[in-house]
Amino acid sequence: MEAVYHRYDAVIVGGGGAGLMAAVNLAGQEVAVLSKLYPVRSHTGTAQGGIGAALGNVEEDHWEWHMFDTVKGSDYLADQDATEILAREAVETVYELEHWGLPFSRTPDGKIAQRRFGGHTREFGKAPVHRSCYAADRTGHMILQTLYQQCIKNRVKFFDEYLVLDLLLEGQRTAGVVALSIADGQLHVFHAKAVLLATGGCGRIYQITSNAHALTGDGMALALRAGVPLEDMEFFQFHPTGIYKLGILITEGARGEGGKLFNGRGERFMERYAPTLLDLAPRDIISRAIYRELRQGHGVEGKWYVHLDLRHLGREVIETKLPDITDFVRTYLGIDPITEPIPVQPTAHYAMGGVPTDVSGRVVVDEKNTVLPGLYAAGECACVSVHGANRLGTNSLVDILVFGRRAGRDMGRYVGEAELPPLPAQPEERARALLARLREGPNGDGRAESVAALRDELQREMMDKASVFRTGESLAEVREQVRALQERYQQVRVQDRGWVFNTDLVEAVELGFLLDVAEVTVEAALARQESRGAHYREDFPQRDDVKWLKHSLGRRTASGALELSYKPVTITRFQPQERKY
Ligand code: FUM
Repeated sequence: MEAVYHRYDAVIVGGGGAGLMAAVNLAGQEVAVLSKLYPVRSHTGTAQGGIGAALGNVEEDHWEWHMFDTVKGSDYLADQDATEILAREAVETVYELEHWGLPFSRTPDGKIAQRRFGGHTREFGKAPVHRSCYAADRTGHMILQTLYQQCIKNRVKFFDEYLVLDLLLEGQRTAGVVALSIADGQLHVFHAKAVLLATGGCGRIYQITSNAHALTGDGMALALRAGVPLEDMEFFQFHPTGIYKLGILITEGARGEGGKLFNGRGERFMERYAPTLLDLAPRDIISRAIYRELRQGHGVEGKWYVHLDLRHLGREVIETKLPDITDFVRTYLGIDPITEPIPVQPTAHYAMGGVPTDVSGRVVVDEKNTVLPGLYAAGECACVSVHGANRLGTNSLVDILVFGRRAGRDMGRYVGEAELPPLPAQPEERARALLARLREGPNGDGRAESVAALRDELQREMMDKASVFRTGESLAEVREQVRALQERYQQVRVQDRGWVFNTDLVEAVELGFLLDVAEVTVEAALARQESRGAHYREDFPQRDDVKWLKHSLGRRTASGALELSYKPVTITRFQPQERKY
């Protein structure tokens, strides 16, 4: 089948919050959004507890406090020029959403309601502050719907259920992407001056995750395969409260409303780990505290979970402010949070690392921050870096909107100035070869491997050896296992022989993305001999600013090996300090 060719000024890969915000800000240009899902099913829609912005609607607040909390929460690895932009522009972003009609929850006097969230404080760490602007526990859902409406109003062109297989570069410039239409198996070449990668995270490298099935690190892997390094991939956040065994998110907003954590002995164990902020300490600290309790046998009934107790909040607060999680718990556990505590365990939630960018969303490819013309990234698949070694709750929604908008605006400027580069010769060749290999399987009589079996093994090993706690030994082991899985991946053969909605083939492509991303995650984690934020090395339990206050860059070399290099952290207002809560 011949490929279908398209020509656009700009192509956006991903229909979540970052992609849609960029698209709205590119209005007036020829722009196409390619999404492997129907856009309003993107993972942004699962964000629950809110978007952080120092509006000061409930109590005094300032963007400087938000910036400080973000930098301290990041264990001082965030770039402070970017963090300042995040905290400042959060405020106007929330008002822009309000003006677009987003139905925020309200204070009694009609302002946007705000709740407490982990690590957000007043007066530089003194006490928790109400900063998270929310729409019950459906904030991401409301943001996605609002942005989608703006896109429709601005006549953005969508290609739904298109899986991008390859990023096209011509010389040192971006030239477009190649995508598979999942509905009919047709290959499409999108020739464009600029491409934005906005594909979200890669939580599916782990067994227990809050991430949707679609979060397979596509944009990160596409960039890596095109020679772009990935930044700070060793930092992967575990959210403390996933539903036991399922990983489905129970929002931090539940603790923001007053929910409390208890171990199997009925102790409020956070008193021992974060005496000031308790259950509202940053996520890395609470997840480690839960793991420590569980390892000491203090899980409930000796099992691998603790309790999140909301009962004292009462029916009205639970049902009006936390309706979705209440439904989840009733549906998936058969438990009513109004009368029973919720069994929770840490769940893989967020990649702090990703495709390195500057504050305009432009992808940068080396230690000197050299820009790759025409390539942009935003949202979880990018690393700007505002989250450093540990993201604060609510800051992902700020990130996708603030930096999605900046990327869209800069792309608008770029496509106005740049010439359309020629396409590389036979642009769809690599994508075609990938699909052929996955469909036809091993040459000769080699044994075909199954996608599901390899993915399960990857997820189990990553959970076991590269999650909340890591050691040099566990990481070296999982590195060998991921490398072996990469080899076995070459022997994959899908069972579905058709082209129409061949989800078997889609999952096979996604497994390749997961393996690439996991490989960089493990390589960077093994190299970093310190503990910082979400990266906790039991064999190097201290933060080491002398040797390790730097960002990692993991790149695939021509030989196929991974190579690590490092670049400095931008520090402006806040010098690194000991991180106490
Ligand atoms: O807990 C939550 O509602 C998650 C928010 C976030 O990851 O920012």
